Amino acid sequence: MPCCHELSWAQRVSFGIVTVLVGIALLVRQPLRNNGAFFISPGEDRKIQQETLAYSNPLSADQTLRRMPGVAGKQVAVTRKESEVEELGYLLYLPTSWTSTSTPIPLLVFLHGQGESGSDPSEVKLQGPPAVVENEPEGRVAQSFAVLSPQKTPYTNWHDLSEEVHNLTKHVLQTYSLDRQRVYLTGVSNGGFGAWALGAAHPETFAAMVPICGGGDPDTAARLKDLPVWAFHGENDVVIPVESSDKMVEAMKKAGGVEVKYSRIPDAPGRDDPAWSEAGIPTMPGHASWVLAYYGDPGEQVYQWLLSHKRIISKK
Ligand SMILES: *[C@@H]1O[C@H](CO)[C@@H](O)[C@H](O)[C@H]1NC(C)=O
Repeated sequence: MPCCHELSWAQRVSFGIVTVLVGIALLVRQPLRNNGAFFISPGEDRKIQQETLAYSNPLSADQTLRRMPGVAGKQVAVTRKESEVEELGYLLYLPTSWTSTSTPIPLLVFLHGQGESGSDPSEVKLQGPPAVVENEPEGRVAQSFAVLSPQKTPYTNWHDLSEEVHNLTKHVLQTYSLDRQRVYLTGVSNGGFGAWALGAAHPETFAAMVPICGGGDPDTAARLKDLPVWAFHGENDVVIPVESSDKMVEAMKKAGGVEVKYSRIPDAPGRDDPAWSEAGIPTMPGHASWVLAYYGDPGEQVYQWLLSHKRIISKK
């Protein structure tokens, strides 16, 4: 008589079938997780890592449906065609330490001058914060900030694009889980006008701003009064007269601006730009006051000043 410990023929067969099925499942599972490919290229590998990051992002459920072109430690270019906001291509830099779940990193939004307008976002790397993170990847700026540098076409002005830039800023903040209390705004020339306009349209988004050789509508000063501002302008600027920033600074002081700093630079450098030959000022004397706001020791002070400000988000 067969003892109770022995398996029946039918039991043995069914155990055998289960074992084989589990084996097959284990073999198939690994490649399936890698998008069904047995051998994945480094590019695909990166894509998978980004998808994994997106899944681990606690902020929003629809995150998994979003593209995340940003890569920690790199400045990536997103063309207008690929962009989430129709009008704007952009560069996005994320510090090496960035992950979607680490302590949120501050975001610096930079609006370029007319010369960098176009359809190749990598042209925006020529100057300002995107140049700094590109050229000094180990530097303090590259380690402290995520940098969003949108690019407009030559046929538009930054001060007409406030909503587009704001939408892109919100998109990047959310997608990369950046620090909403430390979003900073800066821009040069046409981008300086853009910073004044965007700051006035959405003062609640930014913790501080640095508008350079631009200007704006003094009537918006009341809206700007709670936004700390450090303006720069060359006294000898032949492209945008210094009075343009003077007016904004005056208006903000009158409106009771919470913090209004102004570097009115007596002998600001120019910048060679053949595009300005027609206007008779190919070297744009006095226009490049941003050199004293973004680079070297003076720049260091500006970045530190920005980081010293944090927006208080009221919990209504
Ligand atoms: C900004 O985003 C809002 C909400 O998604 C949308 O309704 C609006 O059309 C966008 N504005 C621009 C100018 O892109």
